[in-house]
Amino acid sequence: MAAPPTPPSPPIEPNDTVVLRKVRKSYDGEHEVLRGIDLIARKGETTVIIGGSGAGKTTLLRLIVALEQPTSGELYIEGENIAGLPERELNRVRKKLGMVYQYAALLDSASVLENVAFPLVEHSSMKRKEIDAKVMDTLRILGLDDSVLKKFPAELSGGMRKRVGLARALMLQPPILVYDEPTSGLDPLTSRMVDDLIEETRERFGVTSVVISHDIASCFRIAHQAILLIKGQIVARGTPDELMAGDSDAARDFIKRSGVDVKNIGRVSDKRV
Ligand SMILES: Nc1ncnc2c1ncn2[C@@H]1O[C@H](COP(=O)(O)OP(=O)(O)O)[C@@H](O)[C@H]1O
Ligand SMILES: [Mg+2]
Repeated sequence: MAAPPTPPSPPIEPNDTVVLRKVRKSYDGEHEVLRGIDLIARKGETTVIIGGSGAGKTTLLRLIVALEQPTSGELYIEGENIAGLPERELNRVRKKLGMVYQYAALLDSASVLENVAFPLVEHSSMKRKEIDAKVMDTLRILGLDDSVLKKFPAELSGGMRKRVGLARALMLQPPILVYDEPTSGLDPLTSRMVDDLIEETRERFGVTSVVISHDIASCFRIAHQAILLIKGQIVARGTPDELMAGDSDAARDFIKRSGVDVKNIGRVSDKRV
């Protein structure tokens, strides 16, 4: 038998929950936003993708949650290559991914209960009573009591809105949670609370987390793996400390320019998963 023209890719391991291989994305056929991304987000770990404005972070996230398709390359969710799948199949895949939006993206005219219940009302055959019970359970786990149920998003603090957005993302019990800039626009204290919330949620629900961020303090606090994206390419990866001490000038620069005193930040990255 003739040898194959290219060597076969290594198999996807069971713990390789999200895998990107040679992923490229351009919108107009000219300007390439992502230029050959290879990455693995492992089961039960938190992978933080950091990078400045315009690096392609949001685009990368939209590919992972199957809202956009790569121009080329392979993208595996729990071992299934979703690149090029038809819309109906993508809808099935999307249920595996809970998305926590940057500004929580709650429906202003609906109560907290209605906002959180929404995915179950739309995508499950659960009875209303069961749905309400599940909403209350999840909100309680995330540190909110029943008094918030009837409130509207405008009546909540930034930290509370994050919890409500997270509760909604957890409703369909997705194995993967994706966060877009979770600490953006929050004060340092609330940011820290949100970091704790991400870590507690990972432990409690056993989810694989992918976080898009430009917040270095947050990255050092929660990342098992940190990936630095510059102009659509990955320039460094490893634990936050490896990025700090490694041989990528770009990574050390990016951390230094943030002005964050990373020595004094607690880490999860040395905890075993
Ligand atoms: N829908 C789109 N159509 C055309 N260009 C886009 C679109 N979305 C993003 N881009 C371009 O892709 C580049 C990266 O954007 P983005 O992924 O939002 O970066 P980041 O989230 O890191 O700031 C930018 O130059 C942006 O203008
Ligand atoms: Mg963005």
